[in-house]
Amino acid sequence: MRKLKLGVQISGRGSNLQALIDACAQENFPAEITLVISNVEGVEGLAKAQAANIRTLTIPHKSFPNKEAFEEAIDDAHQKAGIDLICLAGFMRVISPYLISRWRGKMINIHPSLLPAFPGPHTHQRAMDAGALFSGCTVHYVEEEVDAGAIIVQAPVPIKPDDTESELAARVLAIEHKLYPYAVQLIACGFIRYQDGKIISKDTDSMPPIGLLNPALLS
Ligand code: GAR
Repeated sequence: MRKLKLGVQISGRGSNLQALIDACAQENFPAEITLVISNVEGVEGLAKAQAANIRTLTIPHKSFPNKEAFEEAIDDAHQKAGIDLICLAGFMRVISPYLISRWRGKMINIHPSLLPAFPGPHTHQRAMDAGALFSGCTVHYVEEEVDAGAIIVQAPVPIKPDDTESELAARVLAIEHKLYPYAVQLIACGFIRYQDGKIISKDTDSMPPIGLLNPALLS
């Protein structure tokens, strides 16, 4: 089986990257991480990738005269590495139409809310302030509008009455770590396909429940 080649873009801690690394380390997982790009030097996520012997590149946005030049360098690195799917994992720069047009349908992101609710930053506090009973996380394709592309999978997380922002964020993050590898698995196994801004093929009857290493997908 040919594995899907992932290029992961990070800006910091890289806990979702670690979840993807752990998933890819499982025998027969249908994807592998070929390249990790950070736009910030020396972040924890880079060390996580290096510890797993994954090639890393630091492409600092600040060293480029403009966004297009920065994204051209990112595009070039992914192209040269033969990447099939870009996974944004806490990549904290808005992607411009330049890069999106080159990777449309091949770039996904994880966001810590139940989109379309609470796009953008400070999602947990905003969900609590709104009196929502549930927060959660979403994996979606990346389009020009921030946090608004076709939704691949979502998972709800209950908000407790006495939650703090950091407690809720930690519980959502734990679910993100299950959801992101699951989304990659669904794409790599062909349950999810993207066309013209929509997911056109969702074989929901035979789709496995969330969870890594569903035996049916690993044979
Ligand atoms: C995660 O919670 C991810 O969902 C969020 O940043 C965090 C990165 O953590 N991403 C966004 O808010 C994107 N809009 P990590 O570096 O430990 O994976």
